[in-house]
Amino acid sequence: EWQDPCLPDGWRLKVLEEAGSTNDELRSCGDEANGLVLLAERQTAGRGRRGAAWLSAPGESLTFSVLLRPNEPKAFWPRLSLATGLAVAEALGRFGVEAQIKWPNDVLVRGRKICGILVEAAAQHVIVGIGLNVGTREFPDGLEATSMSLELGTPIERSDVLYQVLKSLVGWSGEIGSGFPDLLERVRERCALSGESVSLMSGERSVSGVVSGIGEGGELLVVTDDGEEKFLQAHEVRIRR
Ligand code: BTN
Repeated sequence: EWQDPCLPDGWRLKVLEEAGSTNDELRSCGDEANGLVLLAERQTAGRGRRGAAWLSAPGESLTFSVLLRPNEPKAFWPRLSLATGLAVAEALGRFGVEAQIKWPNDVLVRGRKICGILVEAAAQHVIVGIGLNVGTREFPDGLEATSMSLELGTPIERSDVLYQVLKSLVGWSGEIGSGFPDLLERVRERCALSGESVSLMSGERSVSGVVSGIGEGGELLVVTDDGEEKFLQAHEVRIRR
């Protein structure tokens, strides 16, 4: 199934039947060059953001991580969250699935989650983990999730999707420096939260407000109910709609 996936120049694909977490596997690959893609058919210890578990049924999802060595300074590496969300959203668009980005890095279709992204920095490289729902299996009610095949009403080949995502990722991951304003423009066009009322958990405190957009550095802009404008970094808040 994964034969000849037309990888970007210099990138390599490694497929494992089973891994704990592909992000964890890549963490210890510090001597590998940029562009190692590690895909697992099954993850036994998949991780989401904030320590949550990430579950995916074998065959249903595209579960992989990419080792990147950006040329840009480390301070810019967190921007890879938005770059990856955009790359996935654009790849989905090529299959006819219109996706939004829920800042900083969920990808939604019609308000339902289709992809989760976990970007983690190691000492000298970054690991971009992607869990994208592709298969035909329905999700339990109340889970607010969807998949490409469910959206399109026809089964989609996972390797085709992988190739399209990697193609976009090569491009956008290179735009976290001077190309970032352009990247942000594209993200803003797909921002699922703009104009929405949200409540923010910042530490123990809960604040509510309305999302006014995404700032120049990729922060979320929120005007709180008492009129204060806040610039929020991804690690600072937890958002409830
Ligand atoms: C989230 O939405 O909380 C992020 C989920 C990220 C899941 C992917 S699946 C591949 C990679 N390996 C992991 O353990 N997590 C990421």
